[in-house]
Amino acid sequence: MKIDGRQTSIEIKEELKLEIDQWVEQGGKRPHLAAVLVGEDAASMSYVRGKIKSCEKVGIVSTLIKKPASISQEELLDIIDDLNSNNEVDGYIVQLPLPGQIDEHTVTLRINPEKDVDGFHPQNLGRMMLGLDTFLPATPFGIVTLLDRYNIPTEGKHCVVLGRSNIVGTPLSVLLSRKRNPGNCTVTIVHSRTKNIKEILLQADILVAAIGRAAFVQSDMVKPGAVVIDVGINRVDDINAKRGYRLVGDVDYTGVSEIASFITPVPGGVGPMTIVSLLKNTLKAAQRKS
Ligand code: GUN
Repeated sequence: MKIDGRQTSIEIKEELKLEIDQWVEQGGKRPHLAAVLVGEDAASMSYVRGKIKSCEKVGIVSTLIKKPASISQEELLDIIDDLNSNNEVDGYIVQLPLPGQIDEHTVTLRINPEKDVDGFHPQNLGRMMLGLDTFLPATPFGIVTLLDRYNIPTEGKHCVVLGRSNIVGTPLSVLLSRKRNPGNCTVTIVHSRTKNIKEILLQADILVAAIGRAAFVQSDMVKPGAVVIDVGINRVDDINAKRGYRLVGDVDYTGVSEIASFITPVPGGVGPMTIVSLLKNTLKAAQRKS
């Protein structure tokens, strides 16, 4: 069965719009998200556009701060300091990746954790580790929400996460092993140095692919009946496509969908859920301040 992230995200956005309208009617401040976009990376530009458009749909004010790829680290840190002290802005993101002259850790550490709606600051990641209230990183939050909305049982399941990035694989492995629902999974992380990846993937009741390699997971690597979550968004050349490329996930959808019990497509799976998670965090940031 296809897990329809697009449809689920539309439903959540409708719920969020109602919640935000109510919040504002009762005198609350309308939430405001800012996004900092550095350079002209086509994928980043497309993601940020999607985030801004979704803000409009739910009644969140948004500001886009666009800077050239040549920006210095000092200039970017000044922008972050301004956002930290701007009371109008409840939360903001700095879209990653950043150009080589800028150290991502330095940037992340400078973000006020109270405004870190990406949930990337060590304080927020640490709170997540401890199961305390925090801004959950958007993609893991979106995946957990999808599992919840589709009533997919996770307790006692073996979840194999393919990929150990700071923004997806590592935080997701923590979230799914926590003592709550969704959670209570037995989690294995596999990565580029793992031996016998295929053997381990075949043991997964829930398989999350987040390594950024087009169609890496083939049907002979998946246990029949497994739940497959595809986080990959890879561009592959396609002369028949309008833009000259098409988007594919880390999973070979055609083959794997025949044996999986549930599977997320690309596009229309995890991607739209990442955006609604960011919107939820932004509302939370606005509500926390009052
Ligand atoms: N680049 C890829 N995913 C993300 C995300 O969730 N947030 C930010 N800031 N950058 C990203």
